[in-house]
Amino acid sequence: MCGIVAYVGPQQAYPILIKGLKRLEYRGYDSAGIALLNSKLNIFKTKGKVSELEKLVKDADLRGTIGIAHTRWATHGEPNNENAHPHFSQSKSIALIHNGIIENYASLRKELESRGYVFQSSTDTEVLTNLIEDIQINEGVDLLEAVRIALNQVIGAYAIVVMSHDDNDTLIAARKGSPLVIGIGIDEYFVASDASPIIEYTKNVVYLDNEEVALIRRNKDLKIKTIRNKDKTPYIQELEMNLDALEKGGYEHFMLKEIHEQPHSIQDSMRGRLHAELGAITLGGILDYEQKLINASKITIVACGTSWHAGLVGEYLFEDLARIPVEVEYASEFRYRNPIICEKDIIIAISQSGETADTLAAIELAKSKGATILGICNVVGSSIARVTHAGIYTHAGPEIGVASTKAFTSQVAVLTLMALRLAQLKGTIPKTRFNQLLNELELIPEKVQQTLKGSKKVLEIAEKFKDVRNFLYLGRGYNFPVALEGALKLKEISYIHAEGYPAAEMKHGPIALIDEQMPVVVIATNKGTYEKVISNIQEVKARKGVVIAIVTEGDLAVKGMADYTIEIPETEEMFVPLLATIPLQKLSYHIAVMRGCNVDQPRNLAKSVTVE
Ligand code: M6R
Repeated sequence: MCGIVAYVGPQQAYPILIKGLKRLEYRGYDSAGIALLNSKLNIFKTKGKVSELEKLVKDADLRGTIGIAHTRWATHGEPNNENAHPHFSQSKSIALIHNGIIENYASLRKELESRGYVFQSSTDTEVLTNLIEDIQINEGVDLLEAVRIALNQVIGAYAIVVMSHDDNDTLIAARKGSPLVIGIGIDEYFVASDASPIIEYTKNVVYLDNEEVALIRRNKDLKIKTIRNKDKTPYIQELEMNLDALEKGGYEHFMLKEIHEQPHSIQDSMRGRLHAELGAITLGGILDYEQKLINASKITIVACGTSWHAGLVGEYLFEDLARIPVEVEYASEFRYRNPIICEKDIIIAISQSGETADTLAAIELAKSKGATILGICNVVGSSIARVTHAGIYTHAGPEIGVASTKAFTSQVAVLTLMALRLAQLKGTIPKTRFNQLLNELELIPEKVQQTLKGSKKVLEIAEKFKDVRNFLYLGRGYNFPVALEGALKLKEISYIHAEGYPAAEMKHGPIALIDEQMPVVVIATNKGTYEKVISNIQEVKARKGVVIAIVTEGDLAVKGMADYTIEIPETEEMFVPLLATIPLQKLSYHIAVMRGCNVDQPRNLAKSVTVE
């Protein structure tokens, strides 16, 4: 959701900025723009993709060694040329790009209008741009000070970069809520919403903290202060990411690459943590919080979307293994309720991006009530990773496809390790069973590899059902979250309506939808409520529904009833989500490709949802 890139240094800025915008395309956007300073400050912007922007500037003067660029995901105002960023201030003396939302923009705009400002767009961003200019003029302060004063008047979330037409050497960047990273090269600086546009130039970065403003000057040291005017020392970190992770590596789409990376990404999530041969699990990130976990009276998991589905698997795991009550909450609901949280509670916040606005707000709420917050994040250094008391990185590597795939299985792998470790600490699991589960968990990456081989069958099913309008996904127990996740994957990338349901709930409503046209995907693996799920399949068949079943290798009972079956390897019931999700990801992928959809950047969606 919205991407920022900026550069100042000895190189030409345009190629760096445009490449950076392309690296950020995965975040989701609907317009793009760039500002460059040579003899004058020029802005080029257009609705549509970065490729449209490239066409627009084909014959323009693109010289300049300082510039800012942006991809916008519309919040205030439709996605058109006027609302695209960068925005000029009224006198065209400054240009600004912004991610986030200025909540009090309407009153600020009114005030500025009363002082003669005329707005070219309907964005909150242009309001901030003019506010900064107004402060500069009326208070006679430099750009840094004007930005700092303006941000003290702003309510909301922002990551901004500002440049001025009369200073070829300076960028001002600031953040609150939305992320911002500053890359430090040799005599040059890069600014971006995440590290992906920076990684090929430098590994040394500074993550700005909330309410910090950075003064970034050519050939000068980076200076940071808070918006309350307190100096801060920049903390330089080294990026662990490598460039290959940001390329498609021969795959047609990032999503397909990421689906196929899962044997490794799951392995990476467990590396150094799972020691089956020693009968041990070490979770360094939360070691200091183990006693709090043992003493906790309940765990609340907060997350959104796919991460929420992973949380639901977590609920089953923690209750099953560690015998502790767990609630899984949509962060967006939790933050506006008056939830009952006490100091002994543990909150687990799950987020691939670590930037989801609702999840961040849920964390702040729980924190204010004294709870201990543990994070499960993929993006190192992300906002959620930084505001939680402690946490565990999933180490799945960058996920570029908007549809979450490897992040989900890595989140489930980490939750599995946490639940097993807590069970061990609390003594709720016999040692032999614990060791047995650890040995099986160690085999999961290999079993995911085997699961990925069953592609032919999935392709055949995709071909058959690519044109239907509705799908139903059913599962029980550990397979219920898998059904939800399968349905979400299909709808977000193929735009086919799909619903996930607990299989037994079908007869309380959705059964009315079933006819010969309605494919019903049933996760019917051979443990837990297997017999019950077989009854649910019979109920579908009795109404002439078409059943696509995910079954355990060698299954005969379901095979005899279902129209199509996809086999996955045998495993413990609690590990089935790590396998059963894979063919559902592939089914969605192939259907979406066959329907000609933009798989990696589905319409209207953003990779990290940084506004509520
Ligand atoms: O970055 P997060 O895990 O916090 O994101 C949460 C959801 O926005 C995300 O999982 C979304 O549902 C995905 N597009 C699903 O594929």
